[in-house]
Amino acid sequence: MTDFKIVRMREEQVPSVFKLDQASFSLPWSERSYLFEIKQNETSIPLVADLAGPDGVELIGFIVVWQVLDEAHIGTIAVGEAYRRHGVARALIREGLGQAYARGARKVFLEVRAGNLPAQALYRSLGFVDLDVRKGYYADNHEDAVVMILEPLEIEG
Ligand SMILES: CC(C)(COP(=O)(O)OP(=O)(O)OC[C@H]1O[C@@H](n2cnc3c(N)ncnc32)[C@H](O)[C@@H]1OP(=O)(O)O)[C@@H](O)C(=O)NCCC(=O)NCCS
Repeated sequence: MTDFKIVRMREEQVPSVFKLDQASFSLPWSERSYLFEIKQNETSIPLVADLAGPDGVELIGFIVVWQVLDEAHIGTIAVGEAYRRHGVARALIREGLGQAYARGARKVFLEVRAGNLPAQALYRSLGFVDLDVRKGYYADNHEDAVVMILEPLEIEG
């Protein structure tokens, strides 16, 4: 599982991104919103993890990072269930935040479901800390969102 590459999300990959999004979240984004991120949203850094295999390239993860001035925001991230715990999410975040840093970001925010302990463990392992709680933030089950922050954003090498 070292053979994956983090590259910019391409328009033809949107159906695969949407499929993985639906499998990963109870409130998935639409295909249109991914097209918007790729084609129109200049603040967006949409990336995928491509795994090279015998039958071609498979999309195994994606991330959308937004950057405005010195702030970045992780909008969404998911890794295919069969490929989890191999460092794919960490690699997606490193690349996304590296590109946001190059554009001027020096702090990073995100929201995560209070019950999503794997994702919180991932973010804590990267230096994020809890900042706030948004009560009843998620529309489907009124679950709280934990707002996390990474500051300062520092990029090695
Ligand atoms: C959260 C998610 C993106 C993690 O992807 P991943 O590729 O498995 O994560 P990584 O392998 O890069 O994990 C990096 C570190 O995060 C932590 N982590 C990740 N998954 C974890 C889990 N299930 N339990 C505990 N810690 C976990 C660990 O510290 C891990 O390092 P280690 O494997 O060396 O112990 C993935 O589980 C997923 O897609 N979940 C569904 C969608 C989702 O919840 N997205 C986040 C929304 S805010």
